[in-house]
Formats: sequence, C-alpha cells, structure tokens
Amino acid sequence: MSSNPQPVSIVGAGPGAPDLLTLRAARAIEQAEVLVWTDSLVNPQIAALAPEGCERIRTSTLTLEEVMALVLERARAGKRVVRLHDGDPCLYGALAEQICRLADADIPVDVVPGISAYQAAASALRSELTIPGLVQTIVLGRAGGRTGVPETESLARLAALRASLCLYLSARHVEAVEAELLQHYPADTPVAIGYRVSWPDEWITVVPLTEMARITRERNLIRTTLYVVSPALTPPGAARSKLYSSSHRHLFRGGAPEDDPAPAAG
Ligand SMILES: C[S@@+](CC[C@H](N)C(=O)[O-])C[C@H]1O[C@@H](n2cnc3c(N)ncnc32)[C@H](O)[C@@H]1O
Repeated sequence: MSSNPQPVSIVGAGPGAPDLLTLRAARAIEQAEVLVWTDSLVNPQIAALAPEGCERIRTSTLTLEEVMALVLERARAGKRVVRLHDGDPCLYGALAEQICRLADADIPVDVVPGISAYQAAASALRSELTIPGLVQTIVLGRAGGRTGVPETESLARLAALRASLCLYLSARHVEAVEAELLQHYPADTPVAIGYRVSWPDEWITVVPLTEMARITRERNLIRTTLYVVSPALTPPGAARSKLYSSSHRHLFRGGAPEDDPAPAAG
C-alpha cells in the first residue's frame, strides 16, 4: 500500500448535460488516474473529460462489492481515483456504504456535489417549487419498490404534506403511486414527468395527476424518469408570488415583516 493514499473523490456528474457539471467536478475528472463511472446513467461525454491514459472502469455490470474492491485496490496503489455518480452523490448513490468501506480501509474521501435530477427538471420547466402562500417545502423521495422505504416515509405520509414532491426511481410503480397520491392531492394537481432531463433526447411534460400513470405507460418510461408533483406547476401567472405583489413589503422594499425578515428575492 502507498504510505500516503490519495483521497478518493466521489463526484456528482449532474443530470446528464456536460455543461451542468460543477467546475470542481470537471477539475477532479480531468485529474483522474482511475475513473470509475456509472455508465448506465452518466453521459459518456463527461467520462471523456478524463485524461488520455486514465483507466476507465464502467460499473453498470458490477456489484458494489466488486466496485469497491477495484476502488480500494487502485487507491492503495496511490492512484487518484474518481468515482463518478449521476446527479448528486447524496441521493440514491450508495454513498454511505462507499464512505464506510473507505473509512474502514483508512483511505480519505472527498465528495463533490452535483446538480440533482429534480433541479434540472425544475429548470427545464422554468418553475419555482416553493411559491409563497402555495407551497414552501420540497420532498425528495421514492416509491417503495424492491429497496423499500421506512414506514414513516411511506408515500401516503409524504403525500399528506401536499408539498412539491419529487419522486425518483418510481416509474415502475406508477399506477400504485398515482392511486396513493390521489388520496391526498386534488385530482388536477400538476405532475411533471421528466425523462432524461438535460440529455439531447430529453422529454418533459406536465399533466394532471390523473394522467400520470397513463402517460408514463404510453411512452414506456421506466428508467431515468423523475416525477415532480406540485401545486407550484400551475401555468405562470396563475400563482403569482406574493413576494412581487405591490401589497407585499419586505426588507428591500421598505419595512420588513417581523416574522419573515429576508425573503429570498435577491
Ligand atoms: C440511482 S438514482 C440517482 C439520483 C441522482 N443521484 C440524482 O441526484 O439525480 C437514479 C434516478 O434518478 C432520476 N434521474 C437521474 N437523472 C435523471 C434525468 N436526467 N432525468 C430524469 N430523471 C433522472 C431517475 O428517477 C432515476 O431512476
């Protein structure tokens, strides 16, 4: 083992488009000696930023154990290893398990954030997901599926909030998801269905909640699909932010309301 192993960088590649990488992520990839990348979800153009001579390992056919064995072996040999995940590594990327294994092996880690799919979807829709007076909370979750979710985070409980609900990894269960959501959200609640958001073949649309499953099945969407269920997705103007209405005064427009000293207007 090298006496001074380099930190392994766990890097978020963002939702797909190479120009949605952070500068820090691009720099880490450009300096990689070993690139371990999620080829089922990360754009090959991003992997191509690694230098010539960099060893490239695709993970779509490997188990986590196999991936970690390769990462540990290369890191122990003193190589600069970059583990590239889609979106942000803190969401559904087995980050905790990887960090535990690296810690057990006394290998330092750094993590570089990435833009998550829900942020790319909100941008593609030109939507704010927190409109004052309408919805102020974003929930990032998933339907149960094979992995399951703790009972306290069941879809019913998430939906009961009627927040802006972003559902990852849920297209396979869309009929059950729609039925559960209809118990809590009004039937005409807008739902964005985003497929491969920010990729050249991106497809994104907003439908009423009652159409969520039908449209998903009609387009045969299973993978790389994100739902955003939110009252905030009503057409522009229908829910004009109080922040900009002439009746609302705030810090930068004379007189801050005491309970809300600095609304995020910029
Ligand atoms: C294993 S999870 C990883 C999520 C990722 N870490 C993130 O922050 O976006 C993969 C799921 O994320 C969602 N996803 C990732 N990229 C997407 C994209 N470009 N468009 C739509 N959904 C996407 C889909 O729900 C997909 O099944």
